[in-house]
Amino acid sequence: MILVTGGCGFIGANFLNWATREFPHEKFVNLDVLTYAANRMSVREAEERGNCDFRQIDLANEEQVRETIRELKPQKVFHFAAETHVDRSIRDPRIFVHSNILGTFHLLEACREVWGNHWEGKVFHHVSTDEVYGSLGDTGAFVETTAYDPSSPYSATKAASDHLVNAYCHTYGFPAKITNCSNNYGPYQFPEKLIPLMILNCLAGKSLPVYGEGTNVRDWLFVWDHCDAIWKVAHHGKNGETYNIGGASEKRNIDIVKGICTVVEELTGRKNLQDLITFVPDRPGHDWRYAIDFSKVEREIGWLPSTTFEQGLRKTVTWYLENSKWVESVQTGEYRNWIATHYQGEIKP
Ligand code: DAU
Repeated sequence: MILVTGGCGFIGANFLNWATREFPHEKFVNLDVLTYAANRMSVREAEERGNCDFRQIDLANEEQVRETIRELKPQKVFHFAAETHVDRSIRDPRIFVHSNILGTFHLLEACREVWGNHWEGKVFHHVSTDEVYGSLGDTGAFVETTAYDPSSPYSATKAASDHLVNAYCHTYGFPAKITNCSNNYGPYQFPEKLIPLMILNCLAGKSLPVYGEGTNVRDWLFVWDHCDAIWKVAHHGKNGETYNIGGASEKRNIDIVKGICTVVEELTGRKNLQDLITFVPDRPGHDWRYAIDFSKVEREIGWLPSTTFEQGLRKTVTWYLENSKWVESVQTGEYRNWIATHYQGEIKP
């Protein structure tokens, strides 16, 4: 049995929809606490295949986690569950410590207990971020040996969770692997993140809030390429090792936003969307640039991203245009509160 945590979140849901289709004889169980950014509608495809069960579990609740792992006795664990939005972590870091650090610790402990020292055939795959490495200047790229230097409360909690996983490997011989990825985009991403926020604001004719001068750089990875990388590393990677996963698509934020305007105009016939661009105050402690060197996973496992940014963006805009029911379902009261407090009138909720 394969356990997936956070399977109703963006990357977890894409992973489950893909893996249940690719591996129909495997049995999957999705553990998710269903916070504001998680949505069971996102895994309807996986659930309809009949090889994916759902349990509403809070990883921050140690007892609940222990009981669930004792009962399910998974062979493989894919740990996606995390609070992920940097701006929210700046406003209120507490939940990030609970979910990302304690949640990971409880899951590691429960697996260690149930697996004993019998690691044969067991896999614990920890999904993490390139933000643990901090910020780059204008050149260079993160490699797996880059020193950890997290800047935000979010990335500090992810760094702590990575350290716990590595310590379990080092101390107990625990069979874990870590992947650190760059910025993901694609279907089912909650519209607090740059790309879906800008797509939906274009469609609604609302302003497009760009932090600072829009010159910060991110390296964009299409989520389906990421899912493929995770599966390959989990099955062919070495225990105790980290693999960086990137999209080979470095872009400035302002160019992303202009690119979204162009694709939405092409697909919908709307006009002059760039007029909606509004420069707003910068994120405190905003990391300047991320770029991933993924030559290790390419060399050792043979993985490469297969989607260009242009292809991925078109697929993503098309998906948001065709899935208005899903969009409506995530634009709840909580979403509106966040928009109203975070953007302070720059976007109408
Ligand atoms: O690098 C991987 C990380 O990518 C993940 O670990 C995080 O969970 C994920 O949220 C993402 O972090 P970022 O902070 O880079 O993503 P976000 O979509 O929030 O912002 C992308 C860039 O766009 C960043 O430089 C801030 C900027 N931005 C973002 C928003 C929401 C804007 O200019 N305006 C906005 O309204």
